[in-house]
Amino acid sequence: MKKVIAIDGPSGAGKSTVARLLAEELGFQYLDTGALYRAVALNLVRMGLKEEASDEEISAGLKKTKVEFENGRVLLQGEDVSEEIRSPLAGHYASVFSARGPVRTYLLKTQRDAAVKADLVAEGRDMTTVVFPEAFKKFFLDASPEERARRRTDELMVKGFAVEQDRILKEIAERDARDSGRQLAPLRRADDAYYIDSTGLAKEEVFRRLLEFVKDAGEKSRLKYKQL
Ligand code: DC
Repeated sequence: MKKVIAIDGPSGAGKSTVARLLAEELGFQYLDTGALYRAVALNLVRMGLKEEASDEEISAGLKKTKVEFENGRVLLQGEDVSEEIRSPLAGHYASVFSARGPVRTYLLKTQRDAAVKADLVAEGRDMTTVVFPEAFKKFFLDASPEERARRRTDELMVKGFAVEQDRILKEIAERDARDSGRQLAPLRRADDAYYIDSTGLAKEEVFRRLLEFVKDAGEKSRLKYKQL
C-alpha cells in the first residue's frame, strides 16, 4: 500500500489547485475524486436517470459505466469528458447522485485501487473520513462562502461558462447543505485533520503551509482501510 495525503473541504475551497501543486512537488499522483463523481453522474443523466431514480436503477446504470483517468484527462465510456464535467450542471448532478449508496460503493474501490498503484494526493469530501481514514497526512481546507463563490465564478468564466457570482453563491450554499447533510459519507472535518482557512490567502501561501506540515511530520504511518 502506498502513501496517501488526504484533503477534504467544501466546493471552491481551492483543494484541487493545492493538491495538484503538492503532488507535483512530492512526485505523488493527484487523485481528483470530484471528477469521478462528476463523470459517473453525467453518465447516469445521459442514460436518462432522474434525480429520484431508485437504487436498483442506479446500480443497473453503474454496471454499464466506465470512468478512467488517462494522462490527466477523464474518460467516460472511452470519451474525453474533462471539459463537460466542469459545468455547473454536472456539478449539481454530481452532488445529487453522490449522496446515493450504490454510487459511493462503486467509487470506493476505484479510489482505493489508485492508492495500491501510486503515492497519492487525494482530494474530495470523504478522503480523510471514509476512503483513506489512516492517510499519512490529513487536511481540511476551508474558505468563506463569499470567497469560494468568487473563486468559482472566476474559474468558470475562464473556462467559458456564462455565470453570475450571486447565483454561484446560492448554488454553493445548496451544495454545502447537500454534501454536509447527507447520510452517507457527509463532508465533515476529521478530528485529526489539519484545518486551514484559506480566506484571503494566496494559493502559494496555502501550498506552503500544507507542504510544511507534510514535511514536518516525517514518514510515520502506513495505510490500513476501514470498511464503508
Ligand atoms: O469537488 P467537486 O466540486 O468536483 O465535487 C462534485 C461533487 O461530487 C460534490 O458536490 C460532492 C461529490 N463528491 C463526493 O461526494 N465525494 C468526494 N470525495 C468528491 C466529490
